[in-house]
Amino acid sequence: MTSRISYMGTKHDLADRVAEVIASCRPGRLLDAFAGMGAVADAHAGRRQVWTNDVQHFAYLAGRCRFTDPHGPLPASRMRELVAPIYQQNMRLLKEQNEKIWTLAEKLPGAATFEEFEFVFDRVSQENLMHEGAYGCFTATYANAYFSLPQCAEIDSVRCAIDTLRGRGVLTQGEFEWAVLTLGQAALRIANTTGHFAQFLTPSASNFKRVSKQFGRSAFDQWLVSLDTLKPSGTTEWRSSNLATRSDCDALLKRLHSSSDVGVVYCDPPYTDDQYSRYYHVWETLVLNDYPPVTGAGLYRPDRFTTPFSLRSKVTGAFKALVEEVASTGADLVLSYPSNGLLHDVGGNPLEILQNAYPNAELIAQIEHSHSTMGASKGSATASVSECIYLGRA
Ligand SMILES: C[S@@+](CC[C@H](N)C(=O)[O-])C[C@H]1O[C@@H](n2cnc3c(N)ncnc32)[C@H](O)[C@@H]1O
Repeated sequence: MTSRISYMGTKHDLADRVAEVIASCRPGRLLDAFAGMGAVADAHAGRRQVWTNDVQHFAYLAGRCRFTDPHGPLPASRMRELVAPIYQQNMRLLKEQNEKIWTLAEKLPGAATFEEFEFVFDRVSQENLMHEGAYGCFTATYANAYFSLPQCAEIDSVRCAIDTLRGRGVLTQGEFEWAVLTLGQAALRIANTTGHFAQFLTPSASNFKRVSKQFGRSAFDQWLVSLDTLKPSGTTEWRSSNLATRSDCDALLKRLHSSSDVGVVYCDPPYTDDQYSRYYHVWETLVLNDYPPVTGAGLYRPDRFTTPFSLRSKVTGAFKALVEEVASTGADLVLSYPSNGLLHDVGGNPLEILQNAYPNAELIAQIEHSHSTMGASKGSATASVSECIYLGRA
């Protein structure tokens, strides 16, 4: 179990190399403009003040907790004690209202044959699940899909407990946010997926054992594990002067004045024509707890963000605007982009675009890198690519 979160496109294994490049840049704050889970910000703990930004709620939450919160999560033992009565009450309500189907759903992890599994799975899928007077956002939205019915009830019941405890002033806002973040990490670990939230596994004769195994894991137990393992980055003192925002980078950079304390902007924009919001939608629901009217095979939320960096017709324009906006702030620009990224696909060249605003821009490094699961929606789980690091000095 790690002290940080890894997800699609996370640059943990490149972060030290990127940090070396950034070390040679202008002094001042590092703005990690597409921070995701913040691997590069992490590599600057104690070295430079950082500002993490991402357009997604969950990535923003990760930035707030790991890079700006003075404390860390409450220890699991203390949290378990605090949430127990409220958690159990919400579980009881959900169980009572869905009693028959709950008993069936509990059999899924132990199914011996696919026929047995399929029969129960189909039965649960047809059920209109109830959550009257109880927290039931995940139960209503993702049961028997990304998670089993009991797992959804556990996630809803944790949410019910931590919302209530925050409302009563028992949990601080920071402790509440860490509780949501760690619940998100636990949800990813137990999800019925190949490691990301773009789609869930439809049970088949060849994969039902894998689905059963994931369905049998306890969301609550895994949440407690995450509470004790996920850690803030760096020291309290370093975090106290960091920043985290949730903004479209275009809007953010337009607001950033040349008088800001940002010395260098690190950009790790999306690089495929898969919209990142496909990978974040379940986490967005976890943060918002808003019972979204989901659609399609992936059960997507209606408000998914569309980035021009993942649109063939707009990626070149998005890059040009990004580079010009960063240059207008007077900061240095460090860019990570793979050699097979969408911009290359449409005949564009990151270095040429950089050189328009930063005449001295150069390709600093080209590193073989395994993009974990980024190829998943196109069929393969990992792809070995060449990650290029470009530098433009103001
Ligand atoms: C390649 S990932 C960054 C990964 C990150 N460097 C890490 O180590 O985890 C790209 C990130 O950009 C975010 N993003 C996409 N479009 C954006 C936009 N227009 N403004 C801000 N963030 C955006 C996505 O949500 C995603 O987290």
